[in-house]
Amino acid sequence: MLTPSDMPANRFRAFVKWGLVICLGGVTLLCQSLAGVLAENIGPAIDGTHRAGLADSRLGYESVSYATDSKVVIQSLGQRQPLYELSVNPPLGLPAVTRHLAPAEIDLGRQLFFDRRLSKNETLSCAMCHIPEQGFTQNELATPVGHLGKGVRRNVPSLYNVAYTEDLFLDGREQSLEAQIWSPLLADNEMANESRKAVLTKLASNDFYRNRFAEIFEEGLTEATLGRALSAYQRALLSGDSPFDRWYFGGEELPTKQKLFAEGYPALAARGFAVFQDKGCATCHRINNSSALFTDGQFHNTGTGYLRAGRALRPPSVQLAPGIFVVPTVDAETETFIDDGRYEVTGLAGDKWRYRTPSLRNVALTGPYMHDGSLASLETVVAFYAEGGGGDPAQDPRTQSVQLTQSDQEALVAFLKTLTSRHVDALVSDARSVTIGERTAGGQ
Ligand code: HEC
Ligand code: HEC
Repeated sequence: MLTPSDMPANRFRAFVKWGLVICLGGVTLLCQSLAGVLAENIGPAIDGTHRAGLADSRLGYESVSYATDSKVVIQSLGQRQPLYELSVNPPLGLPAVTRHLAPAEIDLGRQLFFDRRLSKNETLSCAMCHIPEQGFTQNELATPVGHLGKGVRRNVPSLYNVAYTEDLFLDGREQSLEAQIWSPLLADNEMANESRKAVLTKLASNDFYRNRFAEIFEEGLTEATLGRALSAYQRALLSGDSPFDRWYFGGEELPTKQKLFAEGYPALAARGFAVFQDKGCATCHRINNSSALFTDGQFHNTGTGYLRAGRALRPPSVQLAPGIFVVPTVDAETETFIDDGRYEVTGLAGDKWRYRTPSLRNVALTGPYMHDGSLASLETVVAFYAEGGGGDPAQDPRTQSVQLTQSDQEALVAFLKTLTSRHVDALVSDARSVTIGERTAGGQ
């Protein structure tokens, strides 16, 4: 069974800050002048005496025998978990997974997901936007910063339970996880690789990856097998078995349902669940008889797009260190941060500002919320619904006149906080079993 990790969260926070600085490769000079400030901030929290070697120096990066010298990475190494078993027998509250996952593919995918060499200038990995310690999203930025400090216009979605998502991206423009990888790999404001071929050529020049792909896949390293490996890892990020699941779905498997209700499941959360159903939340954030993804997989207008259009269209500034801010450059493709949601995919007027209903699993870990990260806390999201959403006349009627008293709102928030999976710590520990930037997988 999976065991919770004992890794302190603060250490990761420091690590993530450092990661952000690295990913802003385009502001190198600023980064250099900041290095001292950051070292002051990070250093003592990790190691009272050492200041050097916090980041991966990447000295000898091109060598086959390269291993990281980063103290942060080495000290925070986690434990490999049986992700394959998890995917064969998904945690309580989740539907069965139909796709076969080979353990070797999961391992290779994990290695790739954390490898910064997947970006053009070798600074940005998938995991630096989908940060394991932050719900496989980013808690510190409403919208992320990619290659050379370029801003990305949408909030990073969590990758927990992405195996069940049929229409990927918040506008549903992609249907396959295997194909989806090319969007971040090639986007100029994300990993900025020149072409699919450039990505494959770079990976093929690496002995470890070339050999590993050849061992696992008959066809070796191709566009398709790269997609398969990365998706195998992502498909294995299953996280159910939350206090809510144990209370609501635990029933027969756990004869202690009543006991859990009385002793474990908070009465306020149980009331919040009743509000959630009575006020129509569950018509979009769906719960089925034996499982719940808390989404209908459909696209709806809650008024967030309308609100966003009314605000300044410049990306917000990003704080790199106390008192030091940069404003990311504007999305090169769109010039502004305009976002029309599902309309961009279908061209249907009625789809303007519709976004995919997000799952609410682990929602306490995945803030800030909404497609633009505009709402900072669960309290503000619930208050947003209590005020009738964003106020767009074309908004879904179910979100226009929801009556929620103050005590309903508190109960809803208490309920939402019980959707955090028991497997989260183990999945984070598993994620950190990879030494970032390391040349070989898992120390092999
Ligand atoms: C610069 C930050 C950034 C990087 C790097 C990045 N992503 Fe993302 N990812 C995002 C954002 C933002 C979205 C949402 C975009 C949208 O909806 O238009 C997203 C969406 C996704 C989705 C769709 C999830 C869903 O719920 O629909 C998947 C899967 C995903 N990313 C996987 C990856 C993988 C694999 C990599 C590495 C190859 C990666 N990402 C690299 C920021 C990033
Ligand atoms: C008409 C369908 C619909 C209804 C009804 C609805 N939601 Fe949502 N919910 C959405 C959509 C769509 C989003 C994402 C909006 C965006 O990205 O801009 C969302 C976002 C959220 C989020 C933020 C999740 C995240 O990861 O960003 C929370 C929390 C939430 N809803 C809770 C509720 C609650 C509580 C209710 C009932 C009071 C409710 N929802 C009713 C469709 C709905």
